[in-house]
This record gives sequence, structure tokens and C-alpha cells, in this order.
Amino acid sequence: MTPQEEILKLRKELEQHNYNYYVLSQPTISDYDFDQMMHRLQDLELFYPQYADPNSPTQRVGSDLTQTFRTVRHKYPMLSLANTYNEADVRDFYERVRTGLEGEPFEICAEMKYDGLSISLTYIDGQLTQAVTRGDGVQGDDVTNNVRMIRSIPLRLKEGSGYPHEFEIRGEILMPWASFEALNEQRAKTGEDLFANPRNAASGTLKSQKSRVVAERGLDAYLYYLLGDEIPADGGHYENLHMAADWGFKISQGMKKCKTVEEVLEFIEYWDTERKNLPVATDGIVLKVNSLRQQRHLGYTAKSPRWAIAYKFKAERECTRLNEVTYQVGRTGAITPVANMNPVQLAGTVVKRASLHNADIIRQLDLHIGDMVYVEKGGEIIPKVVGVDVSQRTPDMQPVQFITHCPECGTPLIRVEGEAAHYCPNDSTCPPQIKGRIEHFISRKAMNIDSLGPETVDDYWQRGLIHDVADLYTLRVADICGPNRNRIKSAQKVVDSIEASKQVPFERVVFALGIRFVGETTAKLLARSFKNIDALKDATLEQLLEVDGVGQVIAESIIRYFHDEKCLDVLQRLRDAGLQMSLSEESLAGHTDKLAGQSIVISGVFAKHSRDEYKALIEQHGGKNVGSISKNTTFVLAGENMGPAKLEKAQKLGVRIVNEEEFLEMIE
Ligand code: IVH
Repeated sequence: MTPQEEILKLRKELEQHNYNYYVLSQPTISDYDFDQMMHRLQDLELFYPQYADPNSPTQRVGSDLTQTFRTVRHKYPMLSLANTYNEADVRDFYERVRTGLEGEPFEICAEMKYDGLSISLTYIDGQLTQAVTRGDGVQGDDVTNNVRMIRSIPLRLKEGSGYPHEFEIRGEILMPWASFEALNEQRAKTGEDLFANPRNAASGTLKSQKSRVVAERGLDAYLYYLLGDEIPADGGHYENLHMAADWGFKISQGMKKCKTVEEVLEFIEYWDTERKNLPVATDGIVLKVNSLRQQRHLGYTAKSPRWAIAYKFKAERECTRLNEVTYQVGRTGAITPVANMNPVQLAGTVVKRASLHNADIIRQLDLHIGDMVYVEKGGEIIPKVVGVDVSQRTPDMQPVQFITHCPECGTPLIRVEGEAAHYCPNDSTCPPQIKGRIEHFISRKAMNIDSLGPETVDDYWQRGLIHDVADLYTLRVADICGPNRNRIKSAQKVVDSIEASKQVPFERVVFALGIRFVGETTAKLLARSFKNIDALKDATLEQLLEVDGVGQVIAESIIRYFHDEKCLDVLQRLRDAGLQMSLSEESLAGHTDKLAGQSIVISGVFAKHSRDEYKALIEQHGGKNVGSISKNTTFVLAGENMGPAKLEKAQKLGVRIVNEEEFLEMIE
């Protein structure tokens, strides 16, 4: 087999496995085997750049290069659908269609209405050539690069499946609930703002300037509308979409052709509950006249087709009394107003509190204490107050006044220009802020002081034993026990684990400091770039911005932290306590175990380092440099002009070939 043939074969096989996994959810090989095939293809593409292809499965990992999006005009405008909310509206639609078709029999295709972002994909000769967002319906953003990262979207259609030479297919990009929850959990840990719902998360992701972000966030796509001159025009929408499924697309779950309005209503009723078991958000059912000929006959109004309509599910909503608004203070000092209401049953749970988000929302709702309020649990996880039944308001009820002072420490609140939230600026003595910072400091990925938890932190704080993270290092067994001798054993454990945390490497100390916006990865980057705390403390804005992955917001936050007297004081006391304030000798010397247990062959001529330097690098990272290729070789580090015999042997044994850049990235 020639390399070109092997490349094409691997691409085809990998595409099929992608389809089995992401579209059918029925993988037929192990992740390991999949990775092996992918590596092989990556190596071949590297060696034979003449066969490069942007639609190759290897291109789905993304890049960190910053991109901007071109505005593109839609070939066919992207229309929206008229909405209906109840049975009577659905019956009206059905009758309008019947009248429009002058009594001719017709079928209605019922399918899920997905709650994501609409996208229009163009395929020419079976290859994805363009992906454009809806935009204003006339023109949208070209997000092709990012869409390539969505694994359920085929980059190349199945050969011989009968797809037309050129067509557009439209659908919805979504973030599945599972990915959404994982993403928010991770953002909560790093102190980043949470996404309110999967739609916002999908939208933020799709517009990300780095395609790698899209590749990592597990977006999904369902396609529901075929367009183009070569689409079979005499059949039906249902049949065409099932054809598209054969070409490789993921289509709406549970599509059904209905012959009567009763069948349509049954479908709606069934999915109103069943949709809760779907992996993605849906907000209704779309009803489409199935025959394309009949669709053309019915035509369009200025805004939407006459042949289709959206039935929107009712967001679960109840009315209850607002008793009080309380205010929560977060680790960063942000204030969240909370509605406290009479308990009410909503979407399977009892709800008595709902977030009011910020002062603007309270003002928009014109909320009064004692109001009967509507609470909804829609796409959002946390219930929200969406309206007020003003007819039940009495003159004695008082409007809600947003607090002016922190409910926890009494400090006057501030509001940063351009931000919706109010903040308590007292980060030194405001209890929830202090306790939040200590909880972050002891957490697993930071100092990992696992003998402490939120309750113990609260207890020590209440008893005046700790006021900030540095106080942890002055705790003695006797202080913790107080008069209670039973506590000695557990107190000793606490002291021991605090002592042990002094060995936690510098990277994690930087993370533990709790500098706003500095998550685990950024902390690592900073530690490696500046090597010790003094260099980091003295870094200028420009120097910080030079660190890959540090933008303006993070850089400014770091500068602010190291200009704060109180932070500097805590830092000094942590240093005096003996925490690691610089990279260890080992890290400095660059020793890691990243290549531990790996046998690596070096071959060819290199541009960035000499062969001896690569040999030293392999050893520095725990790997073994070996002379000849065997089945035990982990990979070949290959430069220019790798000998053809070696290349052939590597190919024959299925040994990976890694180029300089990839290798340096591996040990980075
Ligand atoms: S058909 C000309 N089918 O809902 C009709 N749309 O307001 C084209 N949507 O913009 C749309 N699921 O983003 C259609 N199964 C589905 C849908 C669907 C969600 C979205 C789409 C559209 C909006 C309609």
C-alpha cells in the first residue's frame, strides 16, 4: 500500500469510528486502538504534507491560534418559526394547512425542537466546506474551523451513500447536559463565572477564538433541514432527513410522521415528559408538513414558513409568595440577592429559594415584599423569579430595596463600572470571603490539607484560631483541642497535614493563593515562567502578558494582588512558615517523569536542538534513548531526512513517528 493509500484508508476507518461513537453512540473499537490509528495517521500526514486535508480526522484536536470570524451572507436566508403554546394553536395550524392544501391529504412530521444555536453547513463533493451561524438570518459568522471540532458533524460524508454534489444542511449546535455540568464544575473551581445554561455555554464555546477550546468542550449537533437544488424535491422531509442520516448526520430523535392532529398532540404529550431523559436541552416540538411539494405550495410569510410551526413546551412555572430577599456573599465578595418564598412544588422538587442575580433584575421586576411571584425552572438549573402577579399586590407592600452595606460585615458595597454585580470590598475581615479563601487554599488541587474541611475551617474561625491562610501554620495541637482532650488525635493529624503541605510544589502554592482568575493551569504557567515568587511579584504587566495563556484580565488581577498590602503580609508569613516559594531544584533542572518507561529512537537531522541535546532531554524526562527500532520502541523522534529503512521499519511495526515540535510539546 502506498502512503497515500494508507492515509486515505485510515481516514475512512477513523471517520467510521467517529460516526459509530458520536452519532450512533455504539463504538466498535477500544479508545486505545482508536488512538493508535489516529497517531499513525498523524505521523503519516506529518511525513507526507502533500496529502494534508483540513477535513482529516486529525484536524479535530484544535489549535491555540487566535482566530477572527468572517461575516458571510447566507445563500438562503435563515428563517425562524412561528411559535404556538397550546393545543388550540396546534389545531389552528393544522386547519390552516388543510385549507391551504385545498383538502388534499397531508402528513405532518413531528420532531424535537432543540434549544441551542442554529448553524448552516455546506457540503461540496461530500466534504464540509463552510459552517455559518444564523447571525441576523441574512448573514452570519463563518465558524467553519470551530465546527470541525464537533465530532458528531461529519467532515466527509460516507462514500457511495448517494449524497448530492452540493447542498446545505441546517441544524442546532448544543452542549449536552453532562458536558455543561462538568464545564461549570471546573469553572467554579477556578473562580470563573458560570454559564447560566447549556445554550449560553454552547454559544460562548462556538465563538471561542481558539479551536482547541471547542475541541475540549464536547459540543454536539442535530441536523433538521436540507436545502439545495439537488435535494430530491418530490419526496418528503422525513425521508430526506433519513437519507441524510445515511450520509453520516445525526438527526432529530423520535421523528414521526403523523396522519391526524390527534397523533400530533399525542407526540407532543409524550415528549413533554420523555424529553427530560434526552442528553441535550429541548424547548418544544417542531411540526412540518412532510411533502416538499406541499411545502412549496404553502410557501412563506415574510418571517417564517407557512408549512411549519414550533410548539413550545411550558417552562414549569408556579406562583408563590415572596417573603424576604436575603443576600449571599461569595469568595470574591460578589453579592447575590436571593428570593425566599413559600415552598412550592416545581419540576419534581420543592423550591423555596431562587436567585435574583443582581439589582437590575430586582428593579426590572419591580419586586415588592409579599408579592405573589412566578417561579420557573426552564433551561436554567437554578429556579428563577420571572414575574409578579401585580393584581394581588396591596398598598401596604414595600418595594425591595437593594442593600447598601454587606450583610456579613457591614462594609458599604461598591459596584464596578460596567458590571452588574455589587461587591463587598472588605476582603480582609468579611467572614464568607475569608472562609472561602481558606477553603480554596486547603483544597485538593491547591495545598491538599485534607484533614480540614469547610466545617473545621468555620469552627477554627469562630474560635478565633485562624483569620487568614497564614494562620494555619501557627496552629498548635493545644490550640485546636482547647479544653477538650478527646480531640488530641485528630488535632495532631491536622497539624501534621498542615506541616506536610510545606512540601507542596511552588506551582500549587501559586494556585492556592487564590489570585482572582488564576486557575490551576495559569498558576503552573506563571510558576514556570517566573520561577520564584519574587520574580512573579515584581513582574510588569508586559512581562505577564508575554506568558502564553495570560490575557489582560488575568495580568491586571495579578498586579492588583501583589500591590495589596494585606496580600503581601499573608505572603510574607507563608514564606516565613517555610512554604515552597520557588521551583524545586528538580523542576529547575527540568527533571520530570513525563517519558518514564519509554524507549525512544532518534533519527534524522534537527533544526531546534542537536541530537545530543535531544538525547539529554529524553533522559532528563525519565525516558531511554535506544539505537534501533523494535516492537518495544515507544516512538521515533524524527528530524529531516530520516533514513528510508528506518521509516519503513517504523511503519511496519506500527511505531509512532514524532517530529521536533511535537516532542518539545510533550515535555513542555
Ligand atoms: S426548522 C424554515 N427544526 O428553532 C424552518 N428548527 O424559530 C427552519 N430549531 O431557527 C427551521 N429545532 O434554530 C427547525 N427541529 C427543528 C428545530 C429548529 C430547533 C430552531 C432553529 C430555528 C428556530 C425556529
